[in-house]
Amino acid sequence: MTDADPRELENIGIDLAREAGQLARERRSAGVSIAATKSALADIVTDADREVEALIRSRLRELRPADGFLGEESDADPGRSGITWVVDPIDGTVNYAYGIPFYAVSIAAVQGTSDPQTWTALAGAVYVPSLDEMFHAARGSGAWLGDRRLYVEADVSAAGALLATGFGYDPATHAGDLGRVARVMPIARDIRRMGAASIDLCSVAAGRVDGYFERGLKPWDHAAAALIVTEAGGRFALLPADDTGRVLVIAAVPGVFDRLSTLAQP
Ligand code: IPD
Repeated sequence: MTDADPRELENIGIDLAREAGQLARERRSAGVSIAATKSALADIVTDADREVEALIRSRLRELRPADGFLGEESDADPGRSGITWVVDPIDGTVNYAYGIPFYAVSIAAVQGTSDPQTWTALAGAVYVPSLDEMFHAARGSGAWLGDRRLYVEADVSAAGALLATGFGYDPATHAGDLGRVARVMPIARDIRRMGAASIDLCSVAAGRVDGYFERGLKPWDHAAAALIVTEAGGRFALLPADDTGRVLVIAAVPGVFDRLSTLAQP
């Protein structure tokens, strides 16, 4: 166990996310090349993803050498302190590769295990370089966009919920994902597919959408932003995996969360 102060971890996350975001933006201006494909042909990694993760990892090694690390682009390290940093260096890599300015650096500090079903998130920062927007939270201290405190609405308007979602990279999952969209439409005023899960979740916290659902996210996609949602008063859950092992992430304002959870499953 650790006596780490969530506010200190939050400040580290904010500083690193900003520095990493500046690097990502510079690399984007210089031109992006795809370094490899991962789980599917559409699931790409750029040289910038790797470079940005390496920067964050080396800074954390200097600042908090006993902590663990779980990142999208490099090997996990359990550490010795009970704290693990969960990092997506560029969430929204496909947007980034195409020049759509909707991508983010996501950094969380969690306690306990490196399993999102059981860890306790202590701090999180999600930085959107193109908008210079820093979403951040420390456990028990609220969620913030820069220096503005975030509070979600209790419920959605009579027009229905503005919902965001995402689709898996594996074409075999697309029919299921589209079926999920069809099932939630009765409670939706409209749907958005913006391309970066961490920003979708922060958009729930900021009142820019009323709910978000997606099957198949990885821990680094939601670690920081889930805390930002709950600290803003929103609800977040990881619902059971389907037969392909993909958990269902749901986040929403309280008034629509249960209906969205029911309609989005299985
Ligand atoms: C992806 C994005 C996307 C979501 C995918 C994620 P990545 O993360 O968040 O919006 O639909 O499920 O994998 O690969 O760009 O870090």
